[in-house]
Amino acid sequence: MKELFEQIKSLNILVIGDVMLDRYVIGEVSRISPEAPVPVLAVQEERSVAGGAANVALNLRSLGASVETIGWFGQDEQGDELANMLGAANIQVDSRFRFSSAPTISKSRVTASNHQICRVDREAKASDYEPRLGDIGDVVSEKIKKADAVIISDYGKGFITNELLEMVKVHAQFTSIDPKPSRLLEYNKPNLLTPNRLEALELAGLSREIREPFPQSEVVTRIFERFAPEMLAITLGAEGMLLARDGVVECIIPTAAREVFDVSGAGDTVIASLTMALRTGESFARAAEFANLAAGVVVGKVGTATASQEEILKLL
Ligand SMILES: Nc1ncnc2c1ncn2[C@@H]1O[C@H](COP(=O)(O)OP(=O)(O)OP(=O)(O)O)[C@@H](O)[C@H]1O
Ligand SMILES: [Mg+2]
Repeated sequence: MKELFEQIKSLNILVIGDVMLDRYVIGEVSRISPEAPVPVLAVQEERSVAGGAANVALNLRSLGASVETIGWFGQDEQGDELANMLGAANIQVDSRFRFSSAPTISKSRVTASNHQICRVDREAKASDYEPRLGDIGDVVSEKIKKADAVIISDYGKGFITNELLEMVKVHAQFTSIDPKPSRLLEYNKPNLLTPNRLEALELAGLSREIREPFPQSEVVTRIFERFAPEMLAITLGAEGMLLARDGVVECIIPTAAREVFDVSGAGDTVIASLTMALRTGESFARAAEFANLAAGVVVGKVGTATASQEEILKLL
C-alpha cells in the first residue's frame, strides 16, 4: 500500500466534467417577515463545498496526484469561489477557460433548525453549458495528451458532449467515465466505466424499476455490447462493487465501510481512486479493493467527501 501511495504522487490526472458549487446556509427562524408571509432566517453559518466533477478532483488530490480540472467555471461570484477552492487544494484551473454565457451551477440549501426550508439553484439549460471546442479545442486536446488519465465526470449538466468524448477518445492515454445515462452519450470504449446500479440499468436499456435481484449478467452483457469498455465497475451502494471485463462478471467485492453517515459523493471517490490505482499498474481487482477502502472512508464521514492516505490505512 505504501508503494501505491508513492506512485500515485507522480500521476497527473485531468478531470473534465460538470463542476458545481454546493452551498449551505444554516440558521434559525424566530419570526415571520413583515414584508411577506415567509420566515426570516437569522444566519449562523455559511459554507461551500465543491461538487460534481470538482469533488472528483478533490478526491484525486487528497490522495496525492497532480490534478487539473476543466469544466464550466462561470465569470461570476460562484465561479470565483469554486476556482479558489480548487486552487487552495492545489488543483489547476486554467484561467482561459472561464465562461460568461451561463452561470456557474450552484445549489444553496437553506436550513433552519435542521430542516431544509428551500433550495436556491443557479443553473441554465444543458445546451448552454456545451464547451465551444472550436475556440478551446486545441488547448483541451494538448491537456488531454499530457495526462496519465482523463476522468470524465458527467452529471448530465451539459459540459460533456459527444464531440468532447470523441476528442478524449482520440488523444487520451487512459479514459475513465462516470456516466449519466439520462443524456445518453456515446461513451464508446473507455478504459473504465463506473455507473452506479441505476445508471447501469439505464445504460443496459433496462427499466430503472428493476431492483431485486439485480440482473447482473444481463446488465453486464448489454453494457459491453453497447459501449465496449475495457473494464466495468458497477457500484452497488451497501452491496459494494461489481467488476466485469470482456462482458463477463469477474467478482463482487463487499463494501469496506464500517460506519455509514453520508453516502453522497462516494461514487466520485470510487472513480478517482480506481483510476489512480489502475494507472500505477495495479490489477483491476486490487485497484477496486483500494477504491472500496477509499469509498468506505468517505461514507463514514459527515460533510466532507474525500479520503486521505492515513484514513485508508486506518480502515485497513
Ligand atoms: N450504504 C452504504 N454502505 C456501505 N458502503 C457504501 C454505501 N453506499 C456506498 N458505499 C460505498 O461507496 C461505493 C459507491 O457508492 P454508490 O454505489 O452509492 O455510488 P454512487 O451512487 O455513484 O454515489 P454518488 O453518485 O452519490 O457519488 C460503493 O461501492 C461502496 O463501496
Ligand atoms: Mg455517481
